[in-house]
Amino acid sequence: AAVLADAQSTIASPGFDAEAFRLEWLGRKQGRLKQLSDAWLKTAPVEGKKLIGQRFNALKEAIEGALENAGTGTAKVTVSSLDITLPGTTQPVGAEHPLVKTMAEIVDVFRKMGYSTRLGPEVESDFYNFESLNFPPNHPARDTQDTLVIADQEGKPLRERLLMRTHTSPVQIRSMLMEEPPLRLVIPGKVHRNDESDATHSPVFHQVEGLCVDTNITFSDLKGTLDHAMKAFFGSSVKTRFFPSFFPFTEPSADVQISCIFCGGKGCRKCKHSGWIELLGCGMVDPNVFEAVNQRRIELGKDPVYDTSKISGFAFGMGVDRITMMKYGISDIGLLYSGDNRFLEQFA
Ligand code: PHE
Repeated sequence: AAVLADAQSTIASPGFDAEAFRLEWLGRKQGRLKQLSDAWLKTAPVEGKKLIGQRFNALKEAIEGALENAGTGTAKVTVSSLDITLPGTTQPVGAEHPLVKTMAEIVDVFRKMGYSTRLGPEVESDFYNFESLNFPPNHPARDTQDTLVIADQEGKPLRERLLMRTHTSPVQIRSMLMEEPPLRLVIPGKVHRNDESDATHSPVFHQVEGLCVDTNITFSDLKGTLDHAMKAFFGSSVKTRFFPSFFPFTEPSADVQISCIFCGGKGCRKCKHSGWIELLGCGMVDPNVFEAVNQRRIELGKDPVYDTSKISGFAFGMGVDRITMMKYGISDIGLLYSGDNRFLEQFA
């Protein structure tokens, strides 16, 4: 009885620590109950062992019961101190960034046509961003790219100098060095240009690149693929049209326009009353690009398998930011890079 009273008063005391009590009283090796049972049973005469055992078990059960009740007592206090009339705290919900979402949707359109995804580095060398893509050193076509270069690279040969990639096209080259035709690839990613920020320009923006290399790939494959992709992405009533253009790495090259998704081609403010919206650049892979790939493959000890008498290809590149802004009615590109939750939470 004295032992039980001692245990009960400990349990009832203010600031009672159930874990410490369990250790002190019920610990298997050093616990007070264990010590007690050792002492009682050792000294007990054989005929009394059974009775003492029963008493000990009763004591143990009583103490464990008291401990359990102490537990429910504590739980009750907690429940009654919870004021359910207080307003709740809202947890902010995360959302996929609209650029990431648009990029994934574009990639998905091509994935359904058998394309798979490749990625490449944002810090790129002059060789991959320019030279291999048929921009010779000092060629004026480089001026169209407003390149952000990495500092202190002058000591290196030009082709090794580092820069921020100005387009996703270098990943075409990286992929062709690693893999053999046939290829059907989409390359989403960030690109960088030395542009002043305004409502429609940002020094960092996004592109989705495409590359298809196989036997008998023609310009009509390019037209059919892009026409289908634009219909799948913007809706089946969208029309496409192709205009002659120039990129050093494609020949022939084209700019692609789609019928205005706001007015259906009738003319509105969004399409500057032309009925058409400029969307992407494309063309047939220039033989000089395949030649540069073969050359580099030989340097790397690989077969020059991009044989222009057997294969041909097309490539395209589209700006993701403008498409995203059109889709969601965003008037300032800066919002996409602001990290402002008032903007971002609208996409949750
Ligand atoms: N890389 C080009 C640009 O950024 C777009 C492009 C890609 C054009 C592939 C043709 C083929 O302007």
